[in-house]
Amino acid sequence: MTITITPVDPVSRPDFVGRVEGVDLCQPLPANDVAAIEAGMDRFAVLVFHDQRIDDAQQVAFASNFGTLERATGDLAQGADRRLSIDLADISNLNRDGTVMARDDRKRLFGLGNMLWHSDSSFKATPAKYSMLSARILPQRDGNTEFADMRAAYDALDDEERAQLEGLVCEHTQITSRGLLGFTDFTPDEFIRFAPVRQTLVRTHPVTGRKSLFLSSHAGAIEGYPVPEARALLRDLTERATQREFVYKHVWRTHDLVIWDNRTTLHRARRYDPTEIRDMRRTTLESDGPTVM
Ligand code: OGA
Ligand code: MN
Repeated sequence: MTITITPVDPVSRPDFVGRVEGVDLCQPLPANDVAAIEAGMDRFAVLVFHDQRIDDAQQVAFASNFGTLERATGDLAQGADRRLSIDLADISNLNRDGTVMARDDRKRLFGLGNMLWHSDSSFKATPAKYSMLSARILPQRDGNTEFADMRAAYDALDDEERAQLEGLVCEHTQITSRGLLGFTDFTPDEFIRFAPVRQTLVRTHPVTGRKSLFLSSHAGAIEGYPVPEARALLRDLTERATQREFVYKHVWRTHDLVIWDNRTTLHRARRYDPTEIRDMRRTTLESDGPTVM
């Protein structure tokens, strides 16, 4: 098989979101294909693979081609409470026994934070590089995922704004993003686990050298700024960076796998019927290291 990558929207967004064909992710990947996918990620930042009937072990094996796997320590469920191995973030609405979570389930309410624009693991000192989300079971309708191109959003700023943002450092924690939805009942242990980390607001891609905005709903402060001023700025930037011209909406099909680069994109989940099953599983790669030295 020959791997091909073509733009999903060649007219309006030729360098954002590619469709990958000619590869079977159930099988070990030849080095050429790994290199082609990496080059595709550098160009498109989001890649869509259809009809990939992978299991958890195959998903982990595929992800491992691209660097160091991140452990799902950001999930609320840890240890014996987990449904999946610590190598997979559980993006489902399922209990360990496969039933749908109750409406007021604490893990479900915490997970609703995914509906706010974010970059995965921006709350970790070493944030995520790629995320790979596999759609195992989908609701009848809705539950789409949207992606926004932070390279294009950065390019759309004027010179004065770019100069203002250069060198700024934000504080990210899941306590901030969950707090935006009114989820505040963290345990003392969780307050320690979710202590804020520092991230630069402008990032440079290590391969392409392109700059992008590193926003996330986890960001709640900017060093040297009064909090309301920081939050107003972050909100303004996020609003502008997620305008339709920068956004791709992925309408899921069962067995889709979508990979995105968290260094250059934001994403968010959209609503769906909470009584239906949505089983999504994510493998995640670590980026090279902290964004702030
Ligand atoms: C994720 C995520 C969005 C969705 O997997 O990191 O935010 O639509 N998912 O489930
Ligand atoms: Mn996410």
